Amino acid sequence: MKAIYPGTFDPVTNGHLDIIERCSKKFDKIIVLVLNNPSKKHMFSVEERINLLKDVTSNLENVHVESFTGLLVDYMKQNHVELIIRGLRAVTDFEYEMQMALMNNRLYDDAETFFLIARNKYSYLSSSIVKEVASFHGNITGLVPEKVEMAIKDKLKGV
Ligand code: COA
Repeated sequence: MKAIYPGTFDPVTNGHLDIIERCSKKFDKIIVLVLNNPSKKHMFSVEERINLLKDVTSNLENVHVESFTGLLVDYMKQNHVELIIRGLRAVTDFEYEMQMALMNNRLYDDAETFFLIARNKYSYLSSSIVKEVASFHGNITGLVPEKVEMAIKDKLKGV
C-alpha cells in the first residue's frame, strides 16, 4: 500500500525524517510531497526543498520525493493514493490536523489520514524554530540532517 507524507518541509528536520523512516517500514511506498502553504514565507525554493529531501532519504528505497501545486486531494486522485501520513507532535497539533483530515475527507471520500505520534525528542521541533535559532547563531546540530544544517547556514550568510 502507498501513502503520502505531505508538508512544506522548509526545510526537512530530523522530526520529519523520523516520521518518514518509521512509515517507510510500514508501507510499500511513501511519497513525500512538497506543497506550498500560501500562508507561509519560505526560506528554500521548492526545488531546494526537494533536493534536500532526496538527499536525506536516499538510503530509503521506497521513499520518493515530489512536489505539487494545488490541493493535496487533487494529487491523490490523479495518482491513485488514498492514505495521508501526518505526524502529531503535541495536543496543540490536533485541532489543525483534525480540520485538515476532515476537509481532505470531505473533498475526497476515499482519503484517510493516518497519524504517527512524533518521538518525544522531536515534539518541540518545527522548521521555523530551527531557522530562528540558526538566524541568531544558536546550535542546531542534531535537529536537522547535516546537509540541511549547512544549507541553512549558507542561506543565512546572504542575509
Ligand atoms: N517533526 C518536526 N517538525 C514537524 C513535524 C515533525 N514530525 N511535523 C510537523 N512539523 C512542523 C513543520 O516543520 C512545520 O513547521 P513550520 O510551521 O515552522 O514551517 C509545521 O510543523 C507544520 O508542518 P507541515 O507538515 O509543513 O504543515 P503545513 O501546515 O506547513 O502544511 C500542508 C500543510 C502543506 C500539508 C497543507 O497546507 C496542504 O495540504 N496544502 C496543499 C493545499 C491543500 O490541499 N489545502 C487544503 C488542506 S485541507
